[in-house]
Amino acid sequence: MKLVPAEIEAYASEYTEALHPVYEALREVTFAQVPSPGMQVGHLEGRLLKLLAQLVGARRAVEIGTFTGYSALCIAEGMAEDGVLYTCDIDPETTALAQTYWDQAPWGHKIEPRLGPTLQTLEALEGPFDLAFIDADKQNYPAYWEAVVPMIRSGGLVVVDNVLWSGRVLDPQAETDHSIVRLNARAAADDRVEKVMLTVRDGILVARKR
Ligand SMILES: C[S@@+](CC[C@H](N)C(=O)[O-])C[C@H]1O[C@@H](n2cnc3c(N)ncnc32)[C@H](O)[C@@H]1O
Repeated sequence: MKLVPAEIEAYASEYTEALHPVYEALREVTFAQVPSPGMQVGHLEGRLLKLLAQLVGARRAVEIGTFTGYSALCIAEGMAEDGVLYTCDIDPETTALAQTYWDQAPWGHKIEPRLGPTLQTLEALEGPFDLAFIDADKQNYPAYWEAVVPMIRSGGLVVVDNVLWSGRVLDPQAETDHSIVRLNARAAADDRVEKVMLTVRDGILVARKR
């Protein structure tokens, strides 16, 4: 199920901040060369990520799920000039492709990729972080939540992508559906954070640590 009609999405995009040309180049190469290009967050969610990073004055951030680096570019763009975004993925090929586009962005130096299973990578990273973005393997969403929330400073944000999972959260069947449902229930009951679930794109949870 596509949650937002394509023409509404296009209209919203038209009235949202325009992008540095590196984003279009990255979008084109991803759709031309990489399997499952639709995993890329795209214009609207990307601008939201940039804005959230700006609003919390992010200097240290962590991303789970780099893919070809689009969302990392957005978060880093909104971060302080001396900020660092650690972005985690298990795929060296997509991470290498991402690096070639980060190198073309004036703010790309803020991005530090970390290769390997994220739960291990996180053990080696020290908090506190101002912002975390979770957008990787859905089975691990509940584990990512538990690992990341303690690493966020008071007033910082945890942003989780795909929390509506094309509507499958309403009638979960597959294991991935159940993982997202579990994450949503856990986050809703988690008193450490205030939160709102946005019906942007595939559903985005924005949680602010108390
Ligand atoms: C939805 S994509 C991320 C999209 C990216 N945020 C963007 O906007 O371009 C999910 C990524 O999670 C990665 N992934 C899968 N399992 C992982 C794991 N255990 N640790 C880290 N990354 C993982 C995949 O290789 C894939 O690149």
